[in-house]
Amino acid sequence: MEQLLKVLPTSKNIHPDINVLKAIYRQSLEDPESFWRKMAEELFWYEKNGPAYDPLPEPPYAAWFSHWKTNISYNALDRHVDSWRKNKVAYYWEGENGERQTLTYYDLYKEVNRFASLLKDIGIKKGDRITIYLPMVPELPISMLAAVRIGAIHSVVFGGFAAYALAERINDSQSKVVVTADGTFRRGRLFDVKRVVDEALKHTTTVEKVLVIKRANNNVNMIEDRDYWYHELVSFSDSYVEPERLDGIHPSFILYTSGTTGKPKGVTHGTGGYMVWANFTQRVVFDINDKDIYWCTADIGWITGHTYVVYGPLLTGATSFLYEGAPDFPQPDRWWSMIERYGITILYTSPTAIRMHMKNGEEWAKKHNISCLRILGTVGEPINPEAWNWYYKHIGNEKAPIVDTWWQTETGGIMISPQPGLALVPLKPGSATFPLPGVDADVYTEDGRSARPDEKGLLVIKKPWPGTLITLWGNPERFKRSYYSRFPGVYYTGDFAVKDEDGYFWLLGRADEVLKVAGHRIGTIELEDALISHPAVAESAVIGKSDPVKMQVPIAFVVLRPGYSPSPQLRIELINHIRETIGPIAAPQTIYFVSKLPKTRSGKIMRRIIGAVVEEKSIGDTTTLEDETSVEEARRAYEELKLEMERGIGVEA
Ligand code: WT7
Repeated sequence: MEQLLKVLPTSKNIHPDINVLKAIYRQSLEDPESFWRKMAEELFWYEKNGPAYDPLPEPPYAAWFSHWKTNISYNALDRHVDSWRKNKVAYYWEGENGERQTLTYYDLYKEVNRFASLLKDIGIKKGDRITIYLPMVPELPISMLAAVRIGAIHSVVFGGFAAYALAERINDSQSKVVVTADGTFRRGRLFDVKRVVDEALKHTTTVEKVLVIKRANNNVNMIEDRDYWYHELVSFSDSYVEPERLDGIHPSFILYTSGTTGKPKGVTHGTGGYMVWANFTQRVVFDINDKDIYWCTADIGWITGHTYVVYGPLLTGATSFLYEGAPDFPQPDRWWSMIERYGITILYTSPTAIRMHMKNGEEWAKKHNISCLRILGTVGEPINPEAWNWYYKHIGNEKAPIVDTWWQTETGGIMISPQPGLALVPLKPGSATFPLPGVDADVYTEDGRSARPDEKGLLVIKKPWPGTLITLWGNPERFKRSYYSRFPGVYYTGDFAVKDEDGYFWLLGRADEVLKVAGHRIGTIELEDALISHPAVAESAVIGKSDPVKMQVPIAFVVLRPGYSPSPQLRIELINHIRETIGPIAAPQTIYFVSKLPKTRSGKIMRRIIGAVVEEKSIGDTTTLEDETSVEEARRAYEELKLEMERGIGVEA
């Protein structure tokens, strides 16, 4: 064991021996205590009392490092500042209109201390929640690290969410402070972030102070005794804030994600297990080392950004690149020109982004020397072999392996992926290959038996892993129900999967009412609720339609209230209603006005029927019919809906 574990922390190159990978995997599952203790010891702890892995009788069935004490900000900053990495670059930042900023670990350390000191001055204490609603500027990681430094719990809300969605998240977390900016730029246009906050705060009661970062020199409305310019409050001189010594299970952040009801889930991550998982997976999957310039293109507002833009790279002492703007601005080669300029060696992005660049054409990449790239990654949705091959050939020059990484907001970090930091297995385009050490993944049939090779089923995780969510904020019952009730005792992912003859995992998309739109998770019920909140709408059903670039796009069916009639104007009004409540990322591509929705006798919307009509599949192709619906009923519902759409009541985008 000792022998094998040595491979992990010292790995600098791709290890050729797959048997090493297998042996490490086996040992991690057989003896989690020694394995994770060893991995945790790469990091700094104030105290190490008791076991690393503590079995619990209840979900999530283990508490990680519950009696150990640490601080993530100490590990991400102070530890490096005390080493030769003090003046190593932590982030190169570039704004859309070309502004640049470089932050060393020491710079970042000072900024985080100043921010943390201000948070304390305005009364934020350990356990308090702060909501961060910022564009991709350095103050975003800075404010997150400042929060975890003092044991406050951050809730970052993605900038693409609108006022209602923001208010809902602030209310659920009962945040005392909101951190925001005076604006950001997107495709050359100023976007007024602060106005969204002002609108949201009309519907909240807990927020005492709003800290506004000056980014865009935009003239914003400042409300007295509530809104403060960050640069006016923060002290000019350097401050030092002693990091809080936090238990391994102290919540470090909440990140809201979509589930199968209208209300977003407050996925809550701990401190010790999450930290170890971020550090471990960053090394094993990306083989990251001190020569790398690493770029994860995700917005920090999603889990990919939390773990692989902020915590993973900083814990491992890496140099990252951070970009604020659109991928194709001012021209479609923006990404490739930045990869060339900064000499980026590792690129981690989404299949949607790859398909978008593919559509623009490889000639844009050919204009630049991007041979510096040595590892490519994808995340967020299944990658189709065509996009995989394009990425491999035109971006990786047929020499950079692609790590297709499967995981979820809930898992904290990567779970199934090639692991070049350990040993690189032969890749199969479209397969995320094998689970990481500690991840006991399996495919179950509907009735809970392990599926046979090539038999499609549901992905489950049979043992607790360090990166697991610790609960859903304020809702432990929903936590148990969502993840541990489908199959008793094991974690249910909500994904379809298949394991092939060679044991490779293929992830096949969501098995529940959650859509994947350009890699973002959108709840159909959340969208339906938002539509119904408009006075014209009596009923609605939202489903996902396949899309060549975004994978899925939301399509809405709407039944109007008496007194309203279908019109192109009303369609635009409803789409704008979604843009202004949930946000532009959730805007339906099309709205069909129908006189009724196909429903079962007990009133359940027949989603598969609607899906079949939208995808123009014959009803014979819908493999499983809705529960309690006869073939005859389903056929009638299908025909009726098709007829209504053909009669032109639907108004296309
Ligand atoms: C869902 C989780 C994981 C961070 C970003 C998304 C899908 C994710 C893959 C992949 C196939 C994937 C799953 C999963 N997914 N990665 N490599 N191959 N599907 O996090 O928003 O919580 O979404 O994304 O359906 O359940 P998320």
